Amino acid sequence: MRAIQIRLADGGRGGGGRGGSRPGARRPPRRTTRPPQANKTETPLERGKRVYEQNCAGCHGNEGPRERPGLPYIYPRPRDFSAGFFKLTSTPQGSLPTDEDLLRTITNGMPGSAMPSWELLSESDRRDAAAYVKTLVRFFDEDEKKWVNRFELEGR
Ligand code: HEC
Repeated sequence: MRAIQIRLADGGRGGGGRGGSRPGARRPPRRTTRPPQANKTETPLERGKRVYEQNCAGCHGNEGPRERPGLPYIYPRPRDFSAGFFKLTSTPQGSLPTDEDLLRTITNGMPGSAMPSWELLSESDRRDAAAYVKTLVRFFDEDEKKWVNRFELEGR
């Protein structure tokens, strides 16, 4: 048991020998660059934005309504969320999807289209990305001169 603990403590390179590492000797912690996921101060929406920018923006566009979605040669086209059009909803046709609808779509993808399954992302990343997608469902109200988000408008 002792031998196993020593091996783990020095990263499996075997105790003793080169470098003079003694059993039980403490190595200085290795400096690693923090993976972006390790940012604990992020709010869920900020995390959703990061997940979206890393995984979704290439197809769906970064700026939502202000940018045409990327990759125009994909058919069906990646959704421009600003239009507020969703196919996979448990709600009546034409109305906005529930959070669970969005999570299901993101998890399973849309077979027969370029929309892949995002099962490999953690559930919380998928939920946060869904919450961020909701913020992109907006249009510019010319009369009021401001952006209106349909989910907010409908209190969801
Ligand atoms: C390789 C391109 C591609 C990537 C990357 C991608 N999508 Fe999609 N997505 C699509 C396409 C294409 C559609 C439209 C499919 C259709 O209309 O049949 C779509 C549709 C959607 C829809 C609309 C579902 C509905 O009910 O109509 C949502 C929501 C969505 N994607 C979310 C995401 C999220 C979140 C990510 C990142 C985690 C992502 N997508 C990444 C291509 C992509």
